[in-house]
Amino acid sequence: MEPVTQAKKSSNLVLILDYGSQYTHLITRRIRSLSIFSLCINGTSSLSSITELNPRVIILSGGPHSVHSEGAPCFPSGFIEYVEEKGIHVLGICYGLQLLVQKLGGVVKIGEKHEYGRMEIEVEKNEGLFGNKGIGEKQLVWMSHGDEAVKLPEGFEVVGRSNQGAVAAVENRERRFYGLQYHPEVTHSVEGMETLRHFLFDICGLTAGWNMEDVLEEEIKVIKAMVGPEDHVICALSGGVDSTVAATVVHKAIGDRLHCVFVDNGLLRQERERVMATFESDLHLPVTCVDATEEFLSKLKGVTEPEMKRKIIGKEFINIFDIFAHDLEKKVGKKPTYLVQGTLYPDVIESCPPPGSGRTHSHTIKSHHNVGGLPKDMKLKLIEPLKLLFKDEVRAMGKIMNIPVAFLQRHPFPGPGLAVRIPGDVTAGNSLDILRQVDEIFIQSIKDAGIYDEIWQAFAVFLPVKTVGVQGDQRTHSHAVALRAVTSQDGMTADWYYFDFKFLDDVSRKICNSVRGVNRVLLDITSKPPSTIEWE
Ligand code: XMP
Repeated sequence: MEPVTQAKKSSNLVLILDYGSQYTHLITRRIRSLSIFSLCINGTSSLSSITELNPRVIILSGGPHSVHSEGAPCFPSGFIEYVEEKGIHVLGICYGLQLLVQKLGGVVKIGEKHEYGRMEIEVEKNEGLFGNKGIGEKQLVWMSHGDEAVKLPEGFEVVGRSNQGAVAAVENRERRFYGLQYHPEVTHSVEGMETLRHFLFDICGLTAGWNMEDVLEEEIKVIKAMVGPEDHVICALSGGVDSTVAATVVHKAIGDRLHCVFVDNGLLRQERERVMATFESDLHLPVTCVDATEEFLSKLKGVTEPEMKRKIIGKEFINIFDIFAHDLEKKVGKKPTYLVQGTLYPDVIESCPPPGSGRTHSHTIKSHHNVGGLPKDMKLKLIEPLKLLFKDEVRAMGKIMNIPVAFLQRHPFPGPGLAVRIPGDVTAGNSLDILRQVDEIFIQSIKDAGIYDEIWQAFAVFLPVKTVGVQGDQRTHSHAVALRAVTSQDGMTADWYYFDFKFLDDVSRKICNSVRGVNRVLLDITSKPPSTIEWE
């Protein structure tokens, strides 16, 4: 759904203008956790893109800039007049506070007492921001700033100061401007969440009402209205959470005019049947499973260069998808009109990085998730039902639609599949078979140990080297495999997971005893960086 559609509907929108703080998206998430709809857009967006969203409250985020630096990002001209005319409450956080102070006629000085990290602030006035009875006189907060507001605009007052005497919270209640020099959204600011809650509900008068049930219902309505009664929609299911939830939403809206395809490229784990069973028996999705193992593997024969493997897989995927769409056209007598994609909110916001970040295209996990590229001449319109949601919200939506919880908690799996877990030629020997068996034992052991949800991603890697072993009084010359498990927030950085020794001992024994062709098990103990999560 277009953000505008939802925002207009919601008279409760909290719009965040992003000035590049690493915490900006956390503010969005915190506000949503209060059941209030919140969106984040670039802090230098035009006035019309702000007004068309019809926000009730605007938050100016923090950011790495100084208001004195050249090209310091700012809200558009006419912004102050607009918010005052509409009676919109504005809260500046960190850089956002300094921007407000400067633009409204106060003075921000390049800071002498840089304040970073946890510190104590003292509440000077129990009104406005700190008018909540539950809030103490002294608070631990998370500061991260260099500059300092030294003279406030007329009508503003200081309601909190740091223990070094710097301004920590300001407000002009009459004009509805508020500012916090610290970050209330991070958990280190102990009463930060309570302050945000008080601001949004008690000061701004918002009401909680944004929940996944409503979002789902609204989404279904929008899709029904958008897709004509004769239109057909296609969707490529990867077996992952996002495409499955997206397809399920669309299926609820238009029934069997949705046509899904699940491609077995021969590079899947040992789970084709399991995944198909979820699609068919649990979710009743109209899905065709195309076995294209031959097509993929014949083209990968002899290819060892990782990016070349990705290109070949991507291209072949497009071929298969093309054939699927043409077959469908023959069957239903009409070209499909729409394509469903499981794009999430972080992909949308991160593809337009904040001003001054120096990034033109942010490096997200998805940036190299290029397997799902599609034929250009298909001219399909997109349906992206998860475009406004974070991953945990997608899971919540999936749960409402009765997608099994175990499925919703699945680890990510790369589009090129096992091809990037077999350095070298994936078709050599029976590497794919061996890897599938090892992976199955490893993942099942992790599930049995009850630690699957602590781990971001776990998998096995087939090593194209043979080492000597003794098995059953015989010398063997067999393959080594590596096990990798990492913890991570977003896949951009990762730590290796600390298994206990007994677990590792059991898994290694099980693998060597039951997988023919393996006589050595290694554990990958590198973090990212310097390594990546996958081996290729
Ligand atoms: P790396 O290996 O770059 O992986 O640290 C970060 C995350 O991205 C996944 N990954 C991919 N996903 N196509 C995908 O769809 C790819 O080519 C690809 N390469 C890596 C990886 O599994 C991890 O979750």
